[in-house]
Amino acid sequence: MSAFHREKVLSVRHWTDTLFSFTATRNSGFRFQNGQFAMIGLEVDGRPLLRAYSMASANHEEALEFFSIKVADGPLTSRLQKIEEGDTILVGRKATGTLVTDNLLPGKRLLLLSTGTGLAPFASLIKDPDIYDRFETIVLVHGCRQVSELAYGEQLVASLDNDEFFGPLMRRQFIYYPTVTREPFRNRGRITDLIASEQLFHDIGLPPLNIATDRIMLCGSPGMLEDLRRSFEQQGLSEGNHAEPGHFVIEKAFVER
Ligand code: A2P
Repeated sequence: MSAFHREKVLSVRHWTDTLFSFTATRNSGFRFQNGQFAMIGLEVDGRPLLRAYSMASANHEEALEFFSIKVADGPLTSRLQKIEEGDTILVGRKATGTLVTDNLLPGKRLLLLSTGTGLAPFASLIKDPDIYDRFETIVLVHGCRQVSELAYGEQLVASLDNDEFFGPLMRRQFIYYPTVTREPFRNRGRITDLIASEQLFHDIGLPPLNIATDRIMLCGSPGMLEDLRRSFEQQGLSEGNHAEPGHFVIEKAFVER
């Protein structure tokens, strides 16, 4: 049995010069937990060329969705950015990853902290009705260099706000906090600084980080992951994994090329 399924591309949307998303068919045997990733890619010269991609779709959705960067000389993304409806992509049969709610201790507030395409696993998780049961408040923070890079997340949040099922949950329990570092925007600065200065909590009108009630998921720039891990550990928060749940979890599998 092959290690991956061959899926058909259903749609492709280009958001900026460096970002695109696409949807594809989903084999009925492909199961995953929201927040997980799989190896996906293309057949190149008869060989699979695969990278880790978080599913941006939720596991109750029929199609698969992915959110990707485009790197001109990236072995996979230079090719993947050219896919069109009807093309074939490869999707690994096995999904895995640490950004699953079972790896977190019970808590009241869930902070989802992402930069760039690190938003993808959280796009899946915020479409999971279970997180609205497990947590009273969910805060999605998305940091980018430019305002245009926020578009995928902004559109996703707007569509959930308008959704018959998710709309009421979002209005009661969900806060979206996009932030930009390299041009003017209503929220500005790096996630690390916004947390250290408590500006984030001030802006959303909620209390600062509290180890007793906050649980955190991190995905994005390796620099941000390292800086936040160090800072959280200094504050006494523990990193969770499959063996032992903790206060925060980090996803390192992340496409850069
Ligand atoms: P900045 O513009 O100040 O570098 P990138 O496109 O390089 O992956 O960055 C995505 C976002 O992550 C940018 O807003 C960038 O801010 C921010 N970023 C990069 N490194 C860090 C870090 N070590 N801590 C916090 N944010 C970071």
